[in-house]
Amino acid sequence: VVLGSANVDLVVRQPRRAEPGETMFGTSFQTGPGGKGLNQAVAAARAGGDVAFIGAIGDDAFGAQLREVLDAEGIDTRGLRVTALPTGVAQITVTDDGENAITVVAGANETAELRDPERALIAEASHLVVQLERPEALLIEALRHARAHGVTTVLTPAPARAPIDELLALADVIVPNAGEAALLAGVADAEEAAVSLSRTVPTVVVTRGAEGAVVAQRGEIVSRVPAAAVTAVDTTGAGDTFTGVLV
Ligand code: RIB
Repeated sequence: VVLGSANVDLVVRQPRRAEPGETMFGTSFQTGPGGKGLNQAVAAARAGGDVAFIGAIGDDAFGAQLREVLDAEGIDTRGLRVTALPTGVAQITVTDDGENAITVVAGANETAELRDPERALIAEASHLVVQLERPEALLIEALRHARAHGVTTVLTPAPARAPIDELLALADVIVPNAGEAALLAGVADAEEAAVSLSRTVPTVVVTRGAEGAVVAQRGEIVSRVPAAAVTAVDTTGAGDTFTGVLV
């Protein structure tokens, strides 16, 4: 079960990031499904997982579009709630180096209540996966419920924020990128951060872009996994995809 955000992504490609006050021409515009939670759910489903998504959308065209995507991917949407708030959107700029900058307007993703059908989905799951684009109180409630039912809990601490000690204490696995790991651990080096975080969280997987990933458990690095060499086209959702497939 993935509990998380569902957004419509509004993606502009442009050669470089605009300076403050500058107007520049982009090269393309595209809309598509997104949200860290939805991206993870789709990745897990495409990797062969039996996936249910717990999320919130608005009663609008964007919401309908996201439901269609989840249905087409064979993801269980019994936990997808239609709210009075609009569907979340993310304004994304992708520059020629493949890097992105994202601004999210959360809308329906702010919904904080966990209802009985959603609690039932979590209780029956093997894994519960959450990120930080839904209210913290909701995530804590869901993680506690998962723990109470022996469900393995997975947290991607994105978008980066600290401190999130209560969430970390409820996670069996965390999957931060190097920047998020550094912020949470308070040390710049990704391996040192992974080691430090693994003294509280049983399994820490730090993604390092082109440098691959490291896994730390019980205060030591237990695995270093190289990345395939590719030319980056668009890094949007790369971390989400990694987590979905990992789970
Ligand atoms: O991680 C990428 C995602 O972050 C995008 O799809 C966007 O919607 C934001 O949630």
